[in-house]
Amino acid sequence: MAERRDTPWWERGVIYQIYPRSFQDSNGDGIGDLAGVIARLDYVAQLGVDAIWLSPIFPSPMADFGYDVADYCGIEPLFGDLATFDRLISEIHARGLKLLLDFVPNHSSDQHPWFIESRSSRDNPKRDWYIWRDAGADGGPPNNWISDFGGSSWEWDEATGQYYLHAFLKEQPDLNWRNPELRAAMSDVLRFWLDRGVDGFRIDVIWHMIKHEAFPDNPLNPAWTPEVRERDKLIQLHSTDQPEAHTISVEMRRLADSYGDRVLVGEIFLPNDRHAKWYGTPEQPQVHLPFNFQLIENPWDAASLRQIIADYEGSLPAFGWPNWVIGSHDAPRIAARVGEAQARVAAMLLLTLRGTPTLYQGDELGIGEVTIPPERMRDPQHLREPERGIGRDRSRTPMPWNDAPFAGFSTAEPWLPLNDDWRARNVAAQSADEHSMLRFFQKLLALRRSSPALTIGSFTLKGADDEVLSYIRQAGDETLLIVLNLSSQARRFATPHGYGLGDTIASTLARSDAKTGTVAADEGVIFRLTGKH
Ligand code: NOJ
Repeated sequence: MAERRDTPWWERGVIYQIYPRSFQDSNGDGIGDLAGVIARLDYVAQLGVDAIWLSPIFPSPMADFGYDVADYCGIEPLFGDLATFDRLISEIHARGLKLLLDFVPNHSSDQHPWFIESRSSRDNPKRDWYIWRDAGADGGPPNNWISDFGGSSWEWDEATGQYYLHAFLKEQPDLNWRNPELRAAMSDVLRFWLDRGVDGFRIDVIWHMIKHEAFPDNPLNPAWTPEVRERDKLIQLHSTDQPEAHTISVEMRRLADSYGDRVLVGEIFLPNDRHAKWYGTPEQPQVHLPFNFQLIENPWDAASLRQIIADYEGSLPAFGWPNWVIGSHDAPRIAARVGEAQARVAAMLLLTLRGTPTLYQGDELGIGEVTIPPERMRDPQHLREPERGIGRDRSRTPMPWNDAPFAGFSTAEPWLPLNDDWRARNVAAQSADEHSMLRFFQKLLALRRSSPALTIGSFTLKGADDEVLSYIRQAGDETLLIVLNLSSQARRFATPHGYGLGDTIASTLARSDAKTGTVAADEGVIFRLTGKH
């Protein structure tokens, strides 16, 4: 893939996801808040990222921890108020950082005044802002759709004698994006925050936004087995990724573009060919960055990674800029999945692939497996399907800042337990240890920032060893070779034909011996390559 020259900030930059409940508590209630985020902005700036994506901060009954919004234009009192938000955005901008908010358009809370009105009677003007249907012929739900959190997607409303649709919890009724008034109201929401200066949005489950007009049954998934989530019993053919959803994405992009340099990131889980469509076309662009979760979803071995990288790069439209995600509030911690040594390799991969990386809070400390006693589990998805071991709480534990009580996160018992090893694994301890994961991330982020090859350079996959992944990034006269050993044994690697191996400019290990043509177990290295001869 070729080098790019004309580059907006969101192509060069790194996005850092903050889960506000768990970043920093400022008022001693055990729950993080906006004043807490403000207090930690110097940390974020020193880490060396470019933009903050803040998970939802809007008024919410917290059935799904903010992804159930009861007022799209307010701030949840647990987190602060609009004045604190305004302070947050100006403090963020003062540090040269950007702020993306989390826009949750597919569903609101059942406590949103719109839904309260909508369910009040069949002829309420807001009835059609949500998705209401009569019972099926047998008196049951209108079709077989299954909620992403298990069980039917339909909830019976006794008072008005109809079912409403909810792709997630019944407390998260789906909005009807076929209704023009709802659409106009949502555009006003986007304008409200853009006018306040936000630099863009991460758009929650954007591919869910419109459903097939006739609501046909979804087909059965022949590959489903009982260990897998109930949702996956069906292929979400008619409930997601409808052609009309792309029209909404075009409209949102037009609105964002009317504000200049703003960015839309879409949460999308789809195969490459359908995923790529969310970029739109040069004439009718859609989201700037359709989130790419393939590093989270695929096996951690060089052959699989090589394949997904090649396929993803190959699927992008010529004008589409790639992106990579390695952790989130929904996914297991990367260090829990691959171990701490490989988590460094993963960090190097994330920060050296072509495309915008998104880094999740706490992954820069290498937080791994966390023990959460059953009585402290809070994730509604897990509580509905506990036997499937899919809890998201393990990635949502509070940031450990130091070894003071409650790790400096709060003066009270936090809403979720801390990572088991917080006394040693915290920001203060790792800042003081030059070989820590945090210092490693800081070094890599600084290197990335200073290197055109890593930020905007071309990308060429190399090598065929099943345990070693290697590729070249190149811009101007800077050519870098990245060699990642995915195994726990030393491996040999070859210098690409026609190049000479120059300096080692980064390694996952404190002492690297990589110049000998061997990478140690779990070692990732960035080399400078000398001129092609
Ligand atoms: C995706 C969010 O990341 C997740 O946390 C949430 O539960 C669902 N969307 C529903 O909003």
